Amino acid sequence: MSRRYLIAGNWKMNGSLSANAVLLSELSLQQDQYSGMDRLVCPPAPYLESVERQLGGGILLGAQNLSDQTKAGAFTGEVLGDMLVELGCRYVIVGHSERRALYGEDDATVARKFAAAQAAGLIPILCVGETLEERESGATEAVLGRQLGAVLAASGVGAFAKAVIAYEPVWAIGTGRTATTEQAQTTHAFLRGQLAAQDAKIANSTQLLYGGSVKADNAASLLSCDDVDGGLIGGASLKAAEFLAICAAAQALSKN
Ligand code: 13P
Repeated sequence: MSRRYLIAGNWKMNGSLSANAVLLSELSLQQDQYSGMDRLVCPPAPYLESVERQLGGGILLGAQNLSDQTKAGAFTGEVLGDMLVELGCRYVIVGHSERRALYGEDDATVARKFAAAQAAGLIPILCVGETLEERESGATEAVLGRQLGAVLAASGVGAFAKAVIAYEPVWAIGTGRTATTEQAQTTHAFLRGQLAAQDAKIANSTQLLYGGSVKADNAASLLSCDDVDGGLIGGASLKAAEFLAICAAAQALSKN
């Protein structure tokens, strides 16, 4: 397996100019320790420009959301993909469960945002995940198949040559409860299988991240699953020591 590990911090709606400066100065230490994997931070949109200025070359920048529009215009409050690129973003999260649940983003909206991200030259991190009720009723694969299927139908499997998928079980987000390594591996293998049914080569190269209460003390076991290629980290990405320990776990497992 030649997939690189990607450890991505989703800061969600947290931070301030002063808190970001402290966090970034700590994250920028000893960059050369992480040469075998990629590190990414996704701050709130208003901080992208200042975070970009403070990032040491080794850390990549991403956004948490973008408009589904592909051209500038009268869309009050929205952020165009091209604007994120101009600020130095390489990645953008789309379809996070908080956006699906709290802001009414349905599969069709997420599929449009995924396409808009790629149209701007951004790498979308497509989030998929089931609720606890869905898992307990045995609907996990149906839900994930539907969420991923909407994007496959709209953009085609070829789009996943330049995309990342994040499996984030809703019941594990911010709860301190993580998927077991077996649940993570089984679910990631299912997602990779969905891609492989259409294109085995692309399926083999697409990075699949796990997200949901990843911490320094559970990162190594989750990351050691064959089909887990990194993490999408919420709470622990706001603490430099935790985030760096997760990165170190990825680096230690890295083949590069
Ligand atoms: P936590 O790591 O805080 O559970 O959040 C996960 C997440 O939602 C990342 O996008």
